[in-house]
Amino acid sequence: MAWLSVAVADQIQPGDFIQVDTGNLYLLVCNVKGELFAIEDQCTHDGSSMVTGCIEGDQIICPRHGARFCLRSGAALTPPAYDAVQTFPVRLYDNQIQVDIPA
Ligand code: FES
Repeated sequence: MAWLSVAVADQIQPGDFIQVDTGNLYLLVCNVKGELFAIEDQCTHDGSSMVTGCIEGDQIICPRHGARFCLRSGAALTPPAYDAVQTFPVRLYDNQIQVDIPA
């Protein structure tokens, strides 16, 4: 695992998220009322990106068929998705938002 800087601290405002291309995978880095979360940007229902989805509370809604995922745990909360998305640790370090990703 390796900490990757993905944004400056105030770049992702509460209720907002960004997509990050790590070179190996796409992530969504989300700000939920000041808490930061990172998930793989690949819906477990049919592989869609969720970058055009929306956040409600600590959930993200896939834009294709409406599955909801918990941003904290990655758990699939509603059909048609049943498997969790991968989550990654996030930290603030030296005014940078960093995600711990597989090396
Ligand atoms: S691809 Fe996400 S709910 Fe179908």
